[in-house]
Amino acid sequence: MITNLSPQKIKISLLVVFLFFDFFCCDVFIFAQNIEKNTTKLAYGKKGMVVSAHPEASKIGIKILQLGGNAFDATVATEFALAVCFPIAGNIGGGGLLVFRQKNGEIGTLDYREKAPALAHKNMYLDEKGEIIKDKSQDGALAVGVPGTVAGMYALHQQFGKLEWKKIVQPAIDLAKNGLIVTEKEANKFNENQDAFKKFNIHISAFINDKKWKKGDILIQPALAFTLEKIRDNGKKGFYEGEIAALIVEEMKKQKGIITFDDLKNYTPTFRRPLLSKYRGKTIITMPPPSAGGLLLTQMLQMLQPFDLKNLGFQSEKYIQLLTEVERRAYADRAKYLGDSDFFPVPIDQLLHPKYIRERMKSFSFEKATPSKDIQEGKLLPISEETTHYCVIDEDGNAISATTTLNGAYGSKVVVTGAGFFLNNEMDDFSGKPNAPNLYGLIGSEANSIAPNKKMLSSMTPVIVEEKGKISFLVGTPGGSTITTSVLQTIINVIDFEMNMADAVASPRFHHQYLPDEIQYEETNLNFTEKLVKNLEKKGYFLKKRIPIGRVQGIKIMPDGRYEGGADTRGDDTAIGF
Ligand code: GLY
Repeated sequence: MITNLSPQKIKISLLVVFLFFDFFCCDVFIFAQNIEKNTTKLAYGKKGMVVSAHPEASKIGIKILQLGGNAFDATVATEFALAVCFPIAGNIGGGGLLVFRQKNGEIGTLDYREKAPALAHKNMYLDEKGEIIKDKSQDGALAVGVPGTVAGMYALHQQFGKLEWKKIVQPAIDLAKNGLIVTEKEANKFNENQDAFKKFNIHISAFINDKKWKKGDILIQPALAFTLEKIRDNGKKGFYEGEIAALIVEEMKKQKGIITFDDLKNYTPTFRRPLLSKYRGKTIITMPPPSAGGLLLTQMLQMLQPFDLKNLGFQSEKYIQLLTEVERRAYADRAKYLGDSDFFPVPIDQLLHPKYIRERMKSFSFEKATPSKDIQEGKLLPISEETTHYCVIDEDGNAISATTTLNGAYGSKVVVTGAGFFLNNEMDDFSGKPNAPNLYGLIGSEANSIAPNKKMLSSMTPVIVEEKGKISFLVGTPGGSTITTSVLQTIINVIDFEMNMADAVASPRFHHQYLPDEIQYEETNLNFTEKLVKNLEKKGYFLKKRIPIGRVQGIKIMPDGRYEGGADTRGDDTAIGF
């Protein structure tokens, strides 16, 4: 049993996809009533597909495609919709990374990652003894990096959009104003975070509830609607200047944050050349730094290339060993060599050189584990688990694979008074002190130290895969430090194990990130039998059960040209095609 989806379940999903279309054409209320029942984890479409963490966001992306918008328009609409209906990670107060492929085959990436404010400095999270002050980089206004999402979406639309900007921002405004029916998972997350919401917000935000949140409650966000209206009417300036900028700076002053008007006004996103590599004849297109994810993914696929994974068997003992050792080595390199390449000379070519890759794997053996203490960086882990990924493709083949984040769940937990959105806690993705673990247990060095205007390293790994010059599939996930290994395993599921997209994203996962030196596996992962765990322990591996890893989304292009969307079964994630 290699996946969570039996053929029977897939048939049921397909049936629900068709039923879902009926609801889709009806009013929002009927649709929302059925959110909990909808299992649109596998969807097909000819004209377009959107896969995201929330049914309302996927629905808005599809609506924009149906109105004649292209995949770039649908991306902007989906991103803003996620800020409304998936506030745990969807955002306008955070940032993201995306990879795109235009219908003419031209490829590129957009880096709309947050950056350190100009007043940030290397030791800002250390006490007088030089020790990390717990939580200072994780909660509250000092944890906030200058947000990049609105500038990123505006730049993407300016460059590639087809529909009018106002038209693609409007659905998110309507959703914020009319209200959203809270799902069970959302209600649970709101309840878990009530104390933090109250601690970091003296004003009443839409997320604070005197009673417990429950499934079916309506979340109405007038302040967020007001902010989105400013963005609709004034584009990038509607957020980085004027009233909203003033509200952000006011919040900073109240809560001892350091973001200024100049930080906001000076924020610009960057179109970067993608990182390209070959894996089993396919071209892997992904993010360069400040994503560590893209580079690590490329390294790991190169290390795996000489092995016949299918022959080893899906999540067999040897397969788990091999992936663990590859992950261990790549994450050790991350800790030493990776940071914002605009500030630190990341040795990309050396890290990906075939000779270097061969050398790294020389110490690997199926006989026993290589302890992480014996693996220094080649003579070169992190994540709030609450990022989110979505994929969009249109009829012409324009495709976008986007990962967007506040970092931790609800970021810094600070909601800008009067503006209704959460600010990120992305400063924790810097290395506050060499070798001190961050929220995700990742360590870093000088390469990822804090400096004014520098971007913090990211694990986000949006990917597009091509074969013979044609687009083959898109994939990505949240999950902090586990993002890169989840993307790696999903790519292997599609390429080596030939799974359909729904099976590929739903399959059980495991993770190793160099330090801590342990294989983490999902407690529901039945491949980790008692016998297998004992065998691995005998060989020197440490194993740890854990909560679900990632929420992967993907779209595959079928041989007949149709799109196959796969949404992760671990959340409310929804694939819609038409
Ligand atoms: N904040 C998660 C990441 O960018 O890695």
